Amino acid sequence: FEPVKIAPSILSADFMNLGRDIALIEEAGAGYVHVDVMDGHFVPNLTMGVPIVRQLKKATALPLDVHLMIDNPLEQLPWFLDAGADLVTVHAEVLDADGLARAVASIHAAGAKAAVSLKPRTAPGVLAPVVADLDMVLVMSVEPGFSGQSYIEGSEEKVARVAALARSVGASPLIQVDGGIGMATAPLVAASGADVLVCGNAVFAAEDPARALAGIAATAEQ
Ligand code: DX5
Ligand code: ZN
Repeated sequence: FEPVKIAPSILSADFMNLGRDIALIEEAGAGYVHVDVMDGHFVPNLTMGVPIVRQLKKATALPLDVHLMIDNPLEQLPWFLDAGADLVTVHAEVLDADGLARAVASIHAAGAKAAVSLKPRTAPGVLAPVVADLDMVLVMSVEPGFSGQSYIEGSEEKVARVAALARSVGASPLIQVDGGIGMATAPLVAASGADVLVCGNAVFAAEDPARALAGIAATAEQ
């Protein structure tokens, strides 16, 4: 039984001191660096892309967890894999079953780990054709697009449904939850089966980000 891991989202970090912030979360025991890629189409916001991933790869030993909130993942995937993404998440809303299978295959062919994400209103059933091949499923607990939003109540039930779906086919992908996760919500999602918690503002907007990270990890274990 693995302890819950924290994946701080650098979307909430200080971009002018990104190296410092990465070193800080690495020291504090983060499990991944969560990189929120937004294209201004799949979501209204525009954030960061391939060049940042390439630079991050040189700056940290932590695995890079790249969350692609983009319309055309099949086209862009090779670029992110080449830049050093260790785990790549594509959204189920932009790919049919065949597209999902192709995305997972191309991520695995590059030696990286593959995940599929569900927006809050996307039913877990779309995972069925690929769940056996996934390393992780990302359950969004806010509408993707912005950091600092409030956790959508009841998202922990979606986590439990995804865990049950995976179990029903004998699969055991990690389950990641993203959006509004902090001291209050971490225990809920962890109790429902979450393995990896993305935290943006709860870590980087805290007065002491290292303490906040450790506190969230500890509360998720209870
Ligand atoms: C939302 C992003 C999240 C977000 C997390 O679209 O995928 O990773 O930045 O930020 P918080 O934890 O502040 O909700
Ligand atoms: Zn994210």
